[in-house]
Amino acid sequence: MKIAVLPGDGIGTEIVAEAIKVLEVLDLPFEMESALVGGTAFDAHGHPLPEATLKLAKEADAVLFGAVGDWKYDKLERQFRPEQAILGLRKNLGLFANFRPAICYEQLVSASSLKPELVSGLDILIIRELTGDIYFGQPRGRRIAVDGHFPGAEEAFDTMRYSRPEIERIAHVAFQAARKRNKRVTSVDKNNVLETSQLWKDVMVEIGTQYPDVALDHMLVDNAAMQLVKAPKSFDVIVTGNMFGDILSDEASMLTGSIGMLPSASLNAQNQGLYEPSHGSAPDIAGKGVANPLATILSAAMMLRFSLQQADAADRIESAVQSVLAAGLRTPDIYSAGTTKVGTQQMGDAVVAAITKTT
Ligand code: NAI
Ligand code: MG
Repeated sequence: MKIAVLPGDGIGTEIVAEAIKVLEVLDLPFEMESALVGGTAFDAHGHPLPEATLKLAKEADAVLFGAVGDWKYDKLERQFRPEQAILGLRKNLGLFANFRPAICYEQLVSASSLKPELVSGLDILIIRELTGDIYFGQPRGRRIAVDGHFPGAEEAFDTMRYSRPEIERIAHVAFQAARKRNKRVTSVDKNNVLETSQLWKDVMVEIGTQYPDVALDHMLVDNAAMQLVKAPKSFDVIVTGNMFGDILSDEASMLTGSIGMLPSASLNAQNQGLYEPSHGSAPDIAGKGVANPLATILSAAMMLRFSLQQADAADRIESAVQSVLAAGLRTPDIYSAGTTKVGTQQMGDAVVAAITKTT
């Protein structure tokens, strides 16, 4: 089995280096091959997603991705911007299901923006559809309005679009994920206003009948945004479209203390996946050795579980992360009085040491 390792820009290289250390100490039967992606790839090859990088990613069983982007590329034409690399990978690999678990580790309860009793024990999973919706629907563009409130004025428009098969496949993913958890799916939409949401809800109900052991309920997205901060533990699995999922998953990240703790997985129909921390390249702290590598290390654990059939190894990584937190080690983003402040490499080394201790 082969893992394509794409560290990318900014803190991407620093945090992926720690995840590699962790994977190596597990001594599993796979090889890793690295390639450039994002701004560093643009600098070297004139494109954020060079052919060779895409080929490596397609041929691999899984992709471990760091982050891309830097303000210095802001003036480039859109197609050359580092962020196009991640969109290109999603599209070319057919990655339609984005998993973002929001888990509040007991040791980090005080780092959450909510009261401890609301987040203590929090363990929810947001599943975001990744290839449809208003981000990709055509037509889109700018024009001079011929009707509406201001005929003759410049206007812009996007198209929200979902097809039945797109909704069906993400529904199956959600129900199957819920089966392995607490057997509850909340489908989030805006069916009181949107036609796409009505189809979304209808299809969720239909597919739900194939999973009688899983409880399905529906929530409007505005209410879901409210419930996530009012009673986040009332959820198990949330499944929603591309745009609502983008927003709700970032909201959920703040429940857990730091975006530096949050892994993610993006899967295609073959369970091939791209695994990356939920955060970006953090240019403000890049090169300082202070970035939290745990989101990337936990992404590597998801990779072992979902794409490489190594659930035991994934468990060992997750336990090691918990024991390091229990020992009081904290990168600055999760630091609080009474704990020990460490840098990126020390945190990675501590996880490696915790894994070694359990062998
Ligand atoms: P960001 O997620 O990179 O940073 C937001 C804030 O969180 C910053 O203050 C940063 O220092 C902090 N942070 C992020 N990760 C951290 C970690 N592991 N440890 C400690 N602190 C951490 O988002 P921002 O600043 O909006 O974007 C920076 C660049 O990243 C942009 O070019 C953006 O386009 C790109 N980006 C890339 C993504 C990807 O590669 N998938 C996702 C999101 C943003
Ligand atoms: Mg986002």
